[in-house]
Amino acid sequence: MTAVTDATSTTTDLGAKAARHLWGHFARHGEGITPPIITRGEGATIWDSHGKSYIDGLSGLFVVQVGHGRTELAEAAARQAKELAFFPLWSYATPPAIELAERLAGYAPGDLNRVFFTTGGGEAVESAWKLAKQYFKKVGKPGKHKVISRAIAYHGTPQGALAITGIPALKEPFEPLTPGAFRVPNTNIYRAPAPMDTDPKAFGRWAADRIAEAIEFEGPDTVAAVFLEPVQNAGGCFPPPPGYFERVREICDQYDVLLVSDEVICAFGRIGSMFACNDFGYVPDIITCAKGLTSGYSPIGAMIASDRLFEPFDDGHSSFAHGYTFGGHPVSAAVAMANLDIFEREGINAHVAEKAPAFRATLEKLNDLPIVGDVRGEGFFYGIELVKDKATKETFDAAESERILRGFLSTALFDAGLYCRADDRGDPVVQLAPPLICDQPDFDAMESILRNVLTEAWTLL
Ligand SMILES: Cc1ncc(COP(=O)(O)O)c(C=O)c1O
Repeated sequence: MTAVTDATSTTTDLGAKAARHLWGHFARHGEGITPPIITRGEGATIWDSHGKSYIDGLSGLFVVQVGHGRTELAEAAARQAKELAFFPLWSYATPPAIELAERLAGYAPGDLNRVFFTTGGGEAVESAWKLAKQYFKKVGKPGKHKVISRAIAYHGTPQGALAITGIPALKEPFEPLTPGAFRVPNTNIYRAPAPMDTDPKAFGRWAADRIAEAIEFEGPDTVAAVFLEPVQNAGGCFPPPPGYFERVREICDQYDVLLVSDEVICAFGRIGSMFACNDFGYVPDIITCAKGLTSGYSPIGAMIASDRLFEPFDDGHSSFAHGYTFGGHPVSAAVAMANLDIFEREGINAHVAEKAPAFRATLEKLNDLPIVGDVRGEGFFYGIELVKDKATKETFDAAESERILRGFLSTALFDAGLYCRADDRGDPVVQLAPPLICDQPDFDAMESILRNVLTEAWTLL
């Protein structure tokens, strides 16, 4: 007998199972809370279990660069799974992992030629800190173990990566965390004190110099690495001011501190190049990446290190004492190769570079709304900061944030057909990072939904 599987009964059934058994990530649970169930995707559109469609304004979670529904990526996974579903990189290698390592080294700047695979971004960050520690022990600077990162920056949830994360509320439940991580200011020029708020170069210099100051405070002999995103996500898309990374690179060289470019979000076309350090003209010592590498069709992450960092491990007997069973999984590596083929064949990065000004201009139209304080970002990665008072930049208090952001905006935007992110880990922002295949009609649709919902939000204040 055929089971009855009409959309409504299936959804009710799945909703009940989710409510009973599924533990959501960073998700609230309780009476009356059932997560939306997303069942299908095609291009920049997703559908829920009721058959309703939405614009995927966040590429899932900054992941689905080439869009949903790419049969060729599913086929690449199936081909590899049939040939060799799994083998670890623990003293063995597989063809897709080798090919992908070579390809990533080719995209990376400078002499970043050595690729250590993980299963995701947090593990890549964790690996980078561990490499920095072991590297300095090997080269006779064993005291160098501390790390510096920026306020409100998110770098993942493993305990080391969480220590690097600069969001107190995410850390507090798990303290004490790995010791040795210190914070410096981020590059939020919208909230920089006058006169720096109107002088990006001076602000960039000031913000970079805070890193030198932190290294001096902690002692240069104790600091191993600085972790920075090219464009900081949490807080709402803070691009680097002009000259910022140039100065950071100088500081890192001066103190022999490794510069880690955490590109878990910014790599693979999000800003316009394969690696966003290339967009901003700096060469880090390590790149961490994940998400867009496979466009999400299979999980993988990577830490890409310079020849200099690998050299002490190239002695025939020692090893980097670190690994993950599924790191560089052959199916994921094969999918990544196929995904990067799409990037090259379809000119995805060139498309982002060409369309980014139009995306910016479309979102900047929202500046005429009283609730919009700032529209900022780069490439296909934007944050819209919401304020109570445009002139004074006054932000919402905790109760208003709860009421407007959580209580209204998140669901209202989704109900209106736009999946994006309303976030208050810093000041309240709505974030957009659509698939990199989007074009003007998609930008217009996002702007129109945002305009309607933000206009209504203002009336609720
Ligand atoms: C900059 C950055 N680093 C690290 C991570 C952690 O990645 P994952 O969730 O794959 O562990 C994220 C996740 O969003 C991120 O944005």
